[in-house]
Amino acid sequence: MEDDGELNQNPIYDIVIFGASGFTGKYVIREALKFLNTPSSPLTSLALSGRSHSKIAQSLKWAAHPNPPPDIPILIADTSDPASLRRLASQAKLVLNCVGPFRLYGEPVVAACVESGCDYLDICGEPEFMERMEAGFHEKAAEKGCLVISACGFDSVPAELGLLFNSRQWVPPAVPNRVEAYLSLESTKKVVGNLGTYESAVLGVANADKLQEFRRSRPKKPRPLIPGPPPSKGSLIEHQKKFGLWAVKLPSADSIVVRRTLASLTENPLGIAGVLETAEQIERRETFWSSVKPAYFGVKMGTKSLLGILRIIAVGVFIGLFGKNSFGRWLLLKFPSVFSLGWFKKKGPTEDEVSNTSFKMWFVGQGYSDSSLVATGNVKPELEIVTRVMGPEIGYVTTPIVLIQCALILLNQRESCPKGGVFTPGIIFGPTDLQERLQKNGISFDVVSKNSLPA
Ligand SMILES: NC(=O)c1ccc[n+]([C@@H]2O[C@H](COP(=O)([O-])OP(=O)(O)OC[C@H]3O[C@@H](n4cnc5c(N)ncnc54)[C@H](OP(=O)(O)O)[C@@H]3O)[C@@H](O)[C@H]2O)c1
Repeated sequence: MEDDGELNQNPIYDIVIFGASGFTGKYVIREALKFLNTPSSPLTSLALSGRSHSKIAQSLKWAAHPNPPPDIPILIADTSDPASLRRLASQAKLVLNCVGPFRLYGEPVVAACVESGCDYLDICGEPEFMERMEAGFHEKAAEKGCLVISACGFDSVPAELGLLFNSRQWVPPAVPNRVEAYLSLESTKKVVGNLGTYESAVLGVANADKLQEFRRSRPKKPRPLIPGPPPSKGSLIEHQKKFGLWAVKLPSADSIVVRRTLASLTENPLGIAGVLETAEQIERRETFWSSVKPAYFGVKMGTKSLLGILRIIAVGVFIGLFGKNSFGRWLLLKFPSVFSLGWFKKKGPTEDEVSNTSFKMWFVGQGYSDSSLVATGNVKPELEIVTRVMGPEIGYVTTPIVLIQCALILLNQRESCPKGGVFTPGIIFGPTDLQERLQKNGISFDVVSKNSLPA
């Protein structure tokens, strides 16, 4: 294996995985290896990157098991050393960033990629980071011709593609008004997450006021025209009898990322043109976006028992209360298992726990069988379309699948993607074959039912 390469103006690696020693990073390596130098794969050269050569070598060994680790270059880079990041970015066509919390470590990586003009994807689920990167780097990335796309993991691709999928089932003159997604995690063992995600969530709560302040300082985004009134807030806990779930609002990044995609769509009703699209690709993009109808969107976390929902609320209350001051944050991060009631562990889930967990995300769309009904004052939705996205464990199986498929699309179809800028996954990958690719890799999309609602 070679170490720390010299500055290179021409990218030598299709993909560099940064944060390859991390808990998620090692699962991302494992997913990438499935496509390295396989027939018709655009991934022909891969490098791994991070702070510690030995930890990355261990991750590679784990990821390649039971095969011997392949000879893959390891590039040493640290987010506190901008020169190391520039060196990393200058050697990559595409950087996959798995170093989080992103609010602490992400910006120098984005800056280095934009500076050197290489594409950047990450698995961030932190709205403030994403919005700050858009504000700070969109124009430069557009000028340099590089794409910066955050949230290419479970946060927020199943939500983005799931909403687009539901919205496209509304055949004119039918229109949706709202789509509520219900996420349910299922396991024959235990649902467990690694500390990295928990820390990102705790820091998000701690900085919630800063995000509001930042948003107030930014120009207002255009809002899509949605037929009918916004849904009412409803009760804190909902009993969704159809799926046998108790549900509570999930303050994840999903609804924010979807809202940003719908804002981009409002500004670009036929999507964003690619660098060099064929007539067929233009038609595909325009047909795709013409069939998407914006709707109010929210996400709820569901569990089979009321007790499960009370546990989720309790964890939310702990993070909300303790996350506000530094001693409370220290407690939360020192004893993650205690304050998350066993959902997050310092060592993360075991392989067995990961392989025995799966998710279902139900998208309940409500709207009108004819858009003209809204104009006649009959505003209560009278049609419901339920769709579902299902897949394996969210953080360490679905996230690597999503990230690697997004990466392969960029390697394969870069010319038909926009030249550059900071975007959400939905607006870039919506009209591509990402949904088909996810389906081939174990993440399914189905229409569950179409029903009239009682008057
Ligand atoms: N989108 C999703 O659904 C999803 C799913 C899973 C994870 N995530 C996010 O991914 C992030 C990572 O989570 P994780 O559980 O994998 O965390 P983790 O195990 O703690 O991994 C963090 C990684 O960042 C590296 N790192 C930390 N500081 C660095 C620095 N200054 N320079 C270079 N590398 C540095 C670590 O390297 P060392 O090994 O050298 O310490 C390690 O490789 C979190 O933000 C999490 O929220 C998102």
